[in-house]
Amino acid sequence: MSDQPTFDRYADDYDASLALALELSGEDRMFYAKGRVSWLDRCLRELKFAPLRGLDYGCGVGTTSPLLADRFGLAQTIGVDVSPRSIELARAKESSQRCSFFLMDEYRPDASLDLAYCNGVFHHIPLAQRLGAAKYVHDALCPGGIFAFWENFGWNPGTRYVMAHCVFDKDAITLTPGQGRRLLRAAGFEIVRTDFAFVFPRLLRVLRLLEKFLSKLPLGAQYQILARKPLIRTGKPRGDLYR
Ligand SMILES: C[S@@+](CC[C@H](N)C(=O)[O-])C[C@H]1O[C@@H](n2cnc3c(N)ncnc32)[C@H](O)[C@@H]1O
Repeated sequence: MSDQPTFDRYADDYDASLALALELSGEDRMFYAKGRVSWLDRCLRELKFAPLRGLDYGCGVGTTSPLLADRFGLAQTIGVDVSPRSIELARAKESSQRCSFFLMDEYRPDASLDLAYCNGVFHHIPLAQRLGAAKYVHDALCPGGIFAFWENFGWNPGTRYVMAHCVFDKDAITLTPGQGRRLLRAAGFEIVRTDFAFVFPRLLRVLRLLEKFLSKLPLGAQYQILARKPLIRTGKPRGDLYR
């Protein structure tokens, strides 16, 4: 993956660029990052799943890794990314021992982690490399490990607006939830559930209490596919099923 364009040129201004693009929604990047982690927390409580070691795949400048570490009380959180500058910034920001950041090639997946999270990463990965990326996450998880796959929902007009105004989304190719599920199955995961989140902008925030009841409708700005690495090997991952 070393020959692909990286986020290095956006890393220093990542937060400011995102803030600009999100302006219309009335919320900032931390609102969305914390919202995703809270959503995931609710889902894991329902599954009675308490993770110990996490992976933040495509962690960027490391915004979410400490949120995951805090929310789930993780003993170890590993952030990986292809962008050297992003990893440098993530390391500079998070000084504690609980989160460590690596370039993809520096971290060898070893089936030792039980929670993986990614947000807004796969729409930046060239189509031909997506299956390899999903398998990397699969290889990092132990059997029974959970992958929270967050992506932008391209049918949502707000999402389309934000992505059209975000400098680093110019080359993005979004995945529908169906394409996301097919990709994850092809990498060897079983699908647990899919939820849509972030329906209402700040202006309509009184209605946000309704969001958990609307989560099965394709309305939100983002969606989460929760997937599990099977406990029992069900045969080789069927990469040939993914097109
Ligand atoms: C929109 S940013 C999201 C960063 C972070 N997940 C967040 O929510 O703030 C997309 C990130 O995906 C990373 N990325 C792109 N291709 C990748 C790949 N093949 N493997 C891992 N990360 C990748 C980029 O370097 C960038 O940091």
